[in-house]
Amino acid sequence: MLQGKNVVLAVTGSIAAYKSALIVRLLIKEGANIKVVMTKSAIDFITPLTLSTLAKTEVYSDFTSNKDKGTWNNHVDLGLWADYMLVAPATANTLSKMASGEADNFMMAVYLSAKCPVFIAPAMDLDMYKHQSTRDNIKKLVSFGNTIIYPESGELASGLEGEGRLAEPEHIIDFLNNHIKSSQALFGKKVLISAGPTHEALDPVRYLGNRSTGKMGYAIAEQAYELGADVTLISGPVALNNPKKGIKRICITSAQDLYSEMINHFDESDIVIMAAAVADYTPKIISDSKMKKKEGELVIELKRTQDILVGLGEKKKSQFMVGFALETNNELENAIKKRKKKSLDLIVLNSLNDKGAGFAHNTNKITIIGKDNNITKFELKSKQEVAKDILNQIIKEII
Ligand code: CTP
Repeated sequence: MLQGKNVVLAVTGSIAAYKSALIVRLLIKEGANIKVVMTKSAIDFITPLTLSTLAKTEVYSDFTSNKDKGTWNNHVDLGLWADYMLVAPATANTLSKMASGEADNFMMAVYLSAKCPVFIAPAMDLDMYKHQSTRDNIKKLVSFGNTIIYPESGELASGLEGEGRLAEPEHIIDFLNNHIKSSQALFGKKVLISAGPTHEALDPVRYLGNRSTGKMGYAIAEQAYELGADVTLISGPVALNNPKKGIKRICITSAQDLYSEMINHFDESDIVIMAAAVADYTPKIISDSKMKKKEGELVIELKRTQDILVGLGEKKKSQFMVGFALETNNELENAIKKRKKKSLDLIVLNSLNDKGAGFAHNTNKITIIGKDNNITKFELKSKQEVAKDILNQIIKEII
């Protein structure tokens, strides 16, 4: 579950901080990308050098790393980078600060900036752990949406026996894995997504294409992956960053290539989302050498490409199929017809008449037509937010 995920590990000043070295090693073993934040008192218990060597990354404990050179550590960037934040060990003092939002150190500023799920593993002596103020702080932290990895019972550093020991590093990692798994609505689902344009070759240097950027399909792939799906992305030629490490990407060029790859992966898929802008026509003849210009006009003969969704529809068993409709007029009517013709469970309509919708924008405005032609309209949103809306609608219909 942690493969390729960005994890901020926050270590605070408890004797249990020595266990953070093991936590780092286990996170690395899981394939997570780690950044470590330490409070100043944590440094009294374990050196930043130990953790930075194990984590193979710099350890942050202050707003500046190198005052002479003026290196500023951006707590907001770090908070936003994280897919998960783990505070382990979390002292009674840190729990209190987190409950009241007291940003008097770098770690607290990162915590307050983080938008991701936060896991807190407290560690302290048993009476401190039992104290009403600690209990109240934990309750408050849970009410904020944080998840507590409760301490274990056993021998404590004070020599006393009881509850308060930091959960064993292996248990912390198991907890993270199980928690993430159960909170992921698409866990165990195989999702096949196509994205971007297709290029239909005319000769070795020229092609017929379209203006699709692939942003919508890539955003859906990333969100599906975040929801735990096993994602295969079949991508036309795009100028986007590589998708997250856990997403399997296959790059194609033409409509025919896309069709072959979609067919190859279709049987094993649970959900199929065709976000690619597929060429409906391709040149009848592809010249082996560069076409030389001649006097007069040039007429290029085109032939129809395979309608991929129609082809997949013929093979459909239990796959949940989603298509897109990009329309300029009679939008709803055309989209409803397309949903039927292409055996789709759900069709996502975007109209080029809506400002900020369709190709080339970072935003989109969609209408989803689902079961029984139920229509749900959405506002103009970022493509990431639109991807969430589409996947939520799919989840609603398959569960
Ligand atoms: N599509 C497909 N195979 C094609 C063309 C389109 O599978 N050869 C898919 C698209 O990926 C999209 C849906 O069909 O999910 C609708 O695409 P769109 O371009 O809106 O419609 P077309 O079927 O091509 O019809 P038209 O261009 O006439 O509107």
